[in-house]
Amino acid sequence: MQRVFSGIQPSGIPTLGNYLGAIRNWVKIQDNHDCLWCVVDLHAITVWQDPAVLRQQSLEMAAVLLACGVDPAKHILFLQSAVRAHAQLAWIFNCVARLGWLNRMTQFKDKAGKDRENVSSGLYVYPNLMAADIHAYHATRVPVGDDQRQHLELANDIAQKFNHDYGVDFFPNIEPVILGAGARVMSLRDGTKKMSKSDPSDQSRINLNDNADTIALKIRRAKTDPLPLPFDVQELAERPEARNLVGIYAALTDSDHASVLKEHGGQGFGPFKNALTMLLIEKLAPIASETQRLLSDQEALINLLRVGAERAAVIADPIVKEAERLVGFVGLRGD
Ligand code: TRP
Repeated sequence: MQRVFSGIQPSGIPTLGNYLGAIRNWVKIQDNHDCLWCVVDLHAITVWQDPAVLRQQSLEMAAVLLACGVDPAKHILFLQSAVRAHAQLAWIFNCVARLGWLNRMTQFKDKAGKDRENVSSGLYVYPNLMAADIHAYHATRVPVGDDQRQHLELANDIAQKFNHDYGVDFFPNIEPVILGAGARVMSLRDGTKKMSKSDPSDQSRINLNDNADTIALKIRRAKTDPLPLPFDVQELAERPEARNLVGIYAALTDSDHASVLKEHGGQGFGPFKNALTMLLIEKLAPIASETQRLLSDQEALINLLRVGAERAAVIADPIVKEAERLVGFVGLRGD
């Protein structure tokens, strides 16, 4: 069975967009793969994090993933900082990746912006750590959003150069599993912008812990146009807000735009928004309450994550040890 690895930043309660675009697909891929799910707190500190907030958000993200259906018995859920192998292999990869490769990373350019002199060196080598995350497990399938494609290409370049320089066939090629093209969730205030945690308006997004009243209010206020819903999918093309709401409905019912329009075409937004609100509450309320339940017993949550880290280390440690031997380290560390 191919091994799957993916990581998610502990950057607060996910939005509906994160859920439909990524987390839900993680849950689905669990059926026929061995999976490692990692909350990437080492990546998080590449930009400033308040320590108390980072700690809280790391646990929160783990709780949300569990509440969404990540299965810690069949698969492995853990915090990146709890497994040393990530940082150890990342150092070796810092010495494999070329500056020219990192200079081409569009995400670094976007994140650094004009303030390039003042960002952390960690942000620059972020993709090397990401490559280490995956290669420390010899994982070959990596579900990610389209924005991470370039980082996975870099991870493959690193593996190839390592194999070539040391004359081995040690790190396998990674296959990206690009998620969310079909379920791209847009802002409730502007159907042409992605739903995002960083949007200044909370009204633009549904958060996975929003309560029923908040969900109802946000959907009622969601931007629409004056026409009723069309019968034909093609007519959604120039109606981004209508398209977005229909898309959310389709994703939550595991169907597609056409079937949603078959049922709701001709309806005004009033009744359709009511149906969407009920559906959202039905799907999200159990996630919110399970997240709360998990967070209310932090000791149990931490124990679960400790077991996850131990199981992850059992896989990663021998792989990283072998990489260190190949590089020429004498290998006196007693693990
Ligand atoms: N960089 C990824 C993101 O921001 C998160 C991540 C870190 C990741 N390590 C990974 C994803 C390894 C896949 C595999 O979405």
